Amino acid sequence: MSGRQPEILAPDADGIARAAALLSQGALVAMPTETVYGLAADARNDRAVAQVFAAKGRPEFNPLIVHVPDLAAAEALAHVPQTARDLAQAFWPGPLTMVLPLKPGAGLSPLVTAGLPTVAIRVPAHKAAQALLRAFGGPVAAPSANPSGRISPTTAAHVADGLGDAVAAILDAGPCSVGVESTILRVDDLRTVLLREGGLPREALLPLAGALPADTTPAAVSAPGQLASHYAPRASVEIDSDLSDPGAVRIGFGRGPEAEFNLSPVGDMVEAAANLFAMLHAADAMAGDGGRIAVAPVPDHGLGRAINDRLRRAASARG
Ligand code: TXA
Ligand code: MG
Repeated sequence: MSGRQPEILAPDADGIARAAALLSQGALVAMPTETVYGLAADARNDRAVAQVFAAKGRPEFNPLIVHVPDLAAAEALAHVPQTARDLAQAFWPGPLTMVLPLKPGAGLSPLVTAGLPTVAIRVPAHKAAQALLRAFGGPVAAPSANPSGRISPTTAAHVADGLGDAVAAILDAGPCSVGVESTILRVDDLRTVLLREGGLPREALLPLAGALPADTTPAAVSAPGQLASHYAPRASVEIDSDLSDPGAVRIGFGRGPEAEFNLSPVGDMVEAAANLFAMLHAADAMAGDGGRIAVAPVPDHGLGRAINDRLRRAASARG
């Protein structure tokens, strides 16, 4: 470790230009998106992509999401079936990732797709992400900017704490508005399958995506977002808790017993998703090693499905 701190860049013209220049040089930049901060690298540069895996300590068989500014840029990389086109028109830019058939000659590092014949593509809505993607002018591979298996970052401080000088710069645009990762669908000419619940609720997708069966078998996708060990705080996590454990750091939802944190005192799912990872980070720091976190029940509809998915993973990781 060199001990050098990452550059903190403002999301203004100078900051965007500097971040784009660093990406062009093969350096890693933490990029804000509306879901979580991403650890961005030039998706065509093998060395840069390899550094992403090194920085995260992530097993290399897991493919990365490629970020582009619009559907036209996505079409340079992947075959876009009609269903995907309809979904893109409805939900891009936004918290939706689609796994699509990779186009031959797309020019992506094979490390990005882990050698698969498909590529995961996302068009983020965040202004700073859009500006960076357009300034850089190429596909950007970006997993969430956290060490592998730890809670995803929703602030620049989370990124700095987790990755330190493994990232050259952090584009600091404040807290992420959605707060849980994108919803991931696999779309081909035959069908559409849900691979990960996320920031775009399943209910919103049904009219365009049909029955939307979920495929969560490990073989279906080498998806760390589907491994139980993902999203692990250091403390143990009890979910669906009545918050009566006096030794636990308590995270409430809606009206209920007193708690150190509350995902949304008024029971708003959007607010709860936006707060989820920040409160898990803060509760984990408060609980300390070997400590306990207790989380109140969250209704399992809309964004609650993604929230409960992340909470179940956090709980099972230490179980
Ligand atoms: O909101 C998000 O999606 C954030 C921000 C930064 O965009 N990114 C994110 O990336 O959550 P990551 O790497 O933490 O999760 C991406 C998921 C992984 O579970 C990965 O295995 C899956 O997408 N994935 C990527 N390419 C795939 C492919 N070709 N087939 C199936 N799954 C794929
Ligand atoms: Mg992740």
